Amino acid sequence: MDIRVMKPSDIPHVQQANITNLPENYFCKYYLYHALTWPQLSYVAVDVSRPPKTPYDPPKIVGYVLAKMEEEPSDGIPHGHITSLSVMRTHRRLGLAEKLMRQSQRAMAETYGAKYVSLHVRVSNTAALHLYRDTLGFNMDKIEAKYYADGEDANCMRMELSHLR
Ligand code: ACO
Repeated sequence: MDIRVMKPSDIPHVQQANITNLPENYFCKYYLYHALTWPQLSYVAVDVSRPPKTPYDPPKIVGYVLAKMEEEPSDGIPHGHITSLSVMRTHRRLGLAEKLMRQSQRAMAETYGAKYVSLHVRVSNTAALHLYRDTLGFNMDKIEAKYYADGEDANCMRMELSHLR
C-alpha cells in the first residue's frame, strides 16, 4: 500500500470512495479547492499490489483524508481541520486511517504552523471515535447538536500538534 499526497487527477476516485463510505458528500470543486490551496494536507492510500496494465489505468484508491487549514479561525489560533476521512471496507483494520491521519497532521504542523487539528464525528460512529480518541489521542471539545443533515449530533474533537513542530 502506498500513502501519498492527493493529486487533482485522484479527485474522481476519492469522490467515489467518499460517496461509498459516508453520507457527507461534496462537489468536485471542493476537493479541488483543498488540493490546490493546501496541497500538502490531503493524502490517498493506493493499492499497488496489482500494477496498472496501461499508463491510463486509474489508481486503485482505497482510502483518503481530505484536510485543510481553518481559514478564519474564530479563536485566532492557526489550526488544521479534517474535512473527511474514509477507508474502503475491503481495506479496513490495516492501519491505513491512522497513517493517513498522521501524515496530514504532521504536514499541518510542519508546513502551516498549525497548533492543533479539529474535526467533527457522529456521536454514533464508534469505529472513528476509537481511532481518534484511543489511537491518535484526540480529546473531546464539545457536542454540536444536530450538526448533521439528518439531525444527529457531532462530537467536536481536537488534538494539540505542538509535539510535531
Ligand atoms: N471498531 C473499533 N475500533 C476501530 C474500528 C472498529 N470497527 N476501526 C478502527 N478502529 C480503531 C482501533 O483503535 C484501531 O486500532 P487497532 O486496529 O490497533 O485496534 C484504530 O482505529 C486504527 O484503525 P485503522 O486500521 O487505522 O482504521 P481503518 O483504516 O480501518 O479506518 C475508519 C477507520 C476511517 C473509521 C473506517 O472504519 C471508515 O472508513 N469508516 C467509514 C467512514 C467514516 O466513518 N469516516 C470517519 C468520519 S469522521 C470524519 O470524516 C472527520
